[in-house]
Amino acid sequence: MKENLLRKLIKEKIKKEGPIPFDEFMNMVLYEPEVGYYMRKDLKIGREGDFFTASHLGKAFGILLSEALIKLWNKLGCPKNFSITEIGPAMGYLAEDILEEFFMRSFSSQIDKYVLIEINPTLIEHQKERLKKYQGKTIWYSSIKEVKPINGIVIVNEIYDAFPVRIFEIRNHKAFEIYVTLNEKDDFMETLIPARQETIAYLEEFAPQVFQIEGYRSEVNLMAKEFTLQLSKLLQKGYILIFDYGFEADEYFAPFRKRGTLMCYYKHTLNENPYIKIGQQDMTSHVNFSALKKWAKEVGFKIESFTSQSKFLVSLCDETLLERLHKERLTEKFKRLILPQGMGESHKVLVLSKS
Ligand SMILES: C[S@@+](CC[C@H](N)C(=O)[O-])C[C@H]1O[C@@H](n2cnc3c(N)ncnc32)[C@H](O)[C@@H]1O
Repeated sequence: MKENLLRKLIKEKIKKEGPIPFDEFMNMVLYEPEVGYYMRKDLKIGREGDFFTASHLGKAFGILLSEALIKLWNKLGCPKNFSITEIGPAMGYLAEDILEEFFMRSFSSQIDKYVLIEINPTLIEHQKERLKKYQGKTIWYSSIKEVKPINGIVIVNEIYDAFPVRIFEIRNHKAFEIYVTLNEKDDFMETLIPARQETIAYLEEFAPQVFQIEGYRSEVNLMAKEFTLQLSKLLQKGYILIFDYGFEADEYFAPFRKRGTLMCYYKHTLNENPYIKIGQQDMTSHVNFSALKKWAKEVGFKIESFTSQSKFLVSLCDETLLERLHKERLTEKFKRLILPQGMGESHKVLVLSKS
């Protein structure tokens, strides 16, 4: 069974190398070729899978996002040779909704290509099947590093939260990291090892208060920095739209959030145990938007706006659009996107630009 094979691979690594840092463990659990959660052939996202995203709420998200994309294209001065890029399109619903909307609004001819970057080869096949009527407009890559620099807009919906994270714990005012090892029964077990320098530097910068809180435990997402650099190499001119759940640093590392934000999803139920259902459950953590903004500026982006998903989406709506959502029976879905008890406040939107 797949789960056992992945478990076996991780255990072999630990037996060979000794305890492995949590981010390496999480990287294998999510991204080990063929057997990692996001690399599996049978990965399903949505009702039949483990979690939903905004893209699964009917066409509401696609309609609103298309409105945002067209507005930003206008703001750029209606450029030619312009492309839309989506990172991690999963089931391809959002791409389908956007392309359909562009077609309906006679906007398709303004875009050169809709670029899809997806690491899971089976998901690429699903996406190709779903988008076959847009052949000619679409193009696929399996890594952001393969794509030549573009002018356009890049959509990054719920990608940063899926990166492997380091986990730290404070003991006696010092930072330790969680490493994964094996106990005498050959089960996964956590052990604390003094934190690596990059982890300490991150905490000193974004969470200095936690050193005073004995037992404080949370995550450090350094892949987010590397990925932001890759985004800056990808985009020559245009915008990046980042949608994700997360907080600014002070809220992320608030004293009461002593257990961090790492969560696992299996068939739409939540648990906090990353050592079960290996490769069968999703593992995710919230995004530290203060870090993201700082790293984005360092690699040449301008911060255009940072707001809640609710405010971002509502600002795109006029009466005509609201009437249309009502007519197409999308009002309830729209409410889930914007209300605080839905995704309205938990999810934030960071817009970056480069000129
Ligand atoms: C949490 S899902 C996001 C789903 C999707 N964006 C949506 O709106 O439904 C993460 C998706 O990103 C893909 N992915 C993860 N890391 C990636 C990376 N570095 N480059 C491209 N795709 C990635 C996964 O295979 C999966 O399709």
